[in-house]
Order: sequence, then C-alpha cells, then structure tokens
Amino acid sequence: MLFKPFMREGFFPLPVAFISTVSEDGIRNIAPYSCIMPVLRPLDLICLASAKKRDTLVNIRETREFVVNLVGAGLADKVVPTAKFSKPEVDEFEQAGLTAKTSEMIKAPGIAEAHTWMECELATTYEEENYVLIMGKVLRLEVADNVLTKDGSLDIQKAKTLMMTGSKKGMHFCTMTEIGSFEPFGSMFPDGKDPLAGKYEK
Ligand SMILES: Cc1cc2nc3c(=O)[nH]c(=O)nc-3n(C[C@H](O)[C@H](O)[C@H](O)COP(=O)(O)O)c2cc1C
Repeated sequence: MLFKPFMREGFFPLPVAFISTVSEDGIRNIAPYSCIMPVLRPLDLICLASAKKRDTLVNIRETREFVVNLVGAGLADKVVPTAKFSKPEVDEFEQAGLTAKTSEMIKAPGIAEAHTWMECELATTYEEENYVLIMGKVLRLEVADNVLTKDGSLDIQKAKTLMMTGSKKGMHFCTMTEIGSFEPFGSMFPDGKDPLAGKYEK
C-alpha cells in the first residue's frame, strides 16, 4: 500500500516525552513531544522538533532550560490535557494534575510521576519557515530505581514507556515489548571491542 509522504511519522515507533519548562514569569508548562531523539552515542545532546507556536519553544528560548520526562503507559491520560491549547498564563502542572519534581541543575521542574528525567540546557536552535530544531545538552540524567534492572539497564517491562504511532485518524498509544534478543556494542566492530566502552565506566 502506498501512503502520502507526510505520513512517514505513522510508521516510526515514537516516544511520547513530556517537556516541562517555566516561563520567564515563572508559569510552569508541560507539552508532549514525540519528535525527539538523542544525537549519536556517546554525545549528551538531544534534539526536539518544534512547531513555532509553542509555549514550550518560547520558554526554552527565554530561559534556555527544559526537562525531558519519560513516563509509563499509565500516564496516557495526561497526553490530551497537556497537548490541548491553553493560554501561556495557565499552570499546566495544576491543569493536568501532575506533581512537580524539583530539578537539581536547572529551575524548570520535572514531573514527579515520570520515571526518567533529563535536565537540559539549550545548546542551539536551527530554524526554518515551519519548524525549529531545538538542541539541548543533557546536564543531568536520573532514572527511577524501580524501572532499572540490577545492572542498571532499563527494565522495559517495568518502565512500560509511553509511545505512539500515528494513523489517518489519530494517535495510537503503545509501549515496548522485550523480545529476548541482545547484542553487545562491540559486536559491530571488527575486533569485537566497543571503542566507547570506557565512557560507561564510573
Ligand atoms: C503525542 C503528541 C506528540 C506531540 N509531539 C509534538 C512535537 O514533537 N513537536 C511539537 O511541536 N508539537 C508536538 N505535539 C503538540 C504539542 O504537544 C501541543 O501543541 C501542545 O499544546 C503544545 O503546548 P505548549 O504550547 O504549551 O508548548 C504533540 C502532541 C501530542 C499529543
């Protein structure tokens, strides 16, 4: 079956990350963003694609800070309350019934109900007519212990990270499934050694 090219996002598994920010006037904001990706291993950069009419974008430009919150599938009912248009003066934590988690490195709070918090500072933006790419540097990355395995990897079954795919009619929320298949990074290299292995040591 052929699809219109703009429907490409419907076939990517996308995370539903909640971006929390604060305006210059101290108003707290939350918005779901699915167009988000880390920029290469082992860099600490993260890239969000933003439409131009977003309080999130205004706040990030004003304060140069944001938190990327990853949540479990149980928070799917918080997507619409945070995605619906609300005036910039509305506190979206209160509106969505979400709790603020004080950040350590930046003023913008995270969402306490999330399982992963990435405190970011604005690194750079790339702007075109219809969109802005926001590049953030992750200053601090915290993950709740109860979604980690003993060796500190993400326990996919416990985290049940909220994701989505799009269709002609809307958004289908989903999560990941463990398929019991693992390969070390080293398996990609001729000598079997991951040249970045040292980066993961304490
Ligand atoms: C699942 C989902 C994913 C979204 N992803 C993005 C995105 O990646 N970039 C974007 O600009 N808007 C995205 N949106 C739309 C914004 O969340 C929405 O316009 C929101 O009201 C923006 O809030 P703000 O004006 O407070 O920033 C998404 C909405 C939903 C429901």
